[in-house]
Amino acid sequence: MDKKTILLKINDEEYSITTCPNRTLLEILRDDLSLTGAKESCGEGACGACTVLLDGLPMRSCLLLVTEAEGKEITTIEGLSGNGKLDPIQDAFIEYHAIQCGFCSPGMILTAYSLLKNNPDPDEEEIRHAISGNICRCTGYAKIVEAIQAISTKGR
Ligand code: FES
Ligand code: FES
Repeated sequence: MDKKTILLKINDEEYSITTCPNRTLLEILRDDLSLTGAKESCGEGACGACTVLLDGLPMRSCLLLVTEAEGKEITTIEGLSGNGKLDPIQDAFIEYHAIQCGFCSPGMILTAYSLLKNNPDPDEEEIRHAISGNICRCTGYAKIVEAIQAISTKGR
């Protein structure tokens, strides 16, 4: 397949990438740009470990061709922190022990971040619904919900 040059905006930085257009966004992030926060687990849209935000909404980057991400604002977990400071939602995950092995955490945190942007004061049911596509194999859901609840009542 012929290579194509694709312009991506990731975490407010512009990237020009020449690649086969049949590669996924996840492959480009991890293999070409060393943005390894998004994880590959199932590789078929079932677990949410590869979640990134596309124009603010959670998307499974393992299912997205890189060409589909062109022209969108892409946010990875690396983009949430800056100047040596974590985002408050990341601090809440630490404070409430919502991270065990950490494999689901980038996707889980980005999903929570997007939820709180759109609904700053979600109830428990709304939180559980929002994260229902993010599988935590350590099954730490109670702590994850507590962390999201804490940040929503405290305000971000
Ligand atoms: S790796 Fe993408 S949904 Fe599981
Ligand atoms: S903390 Fe281990 S998979 Fe969620």
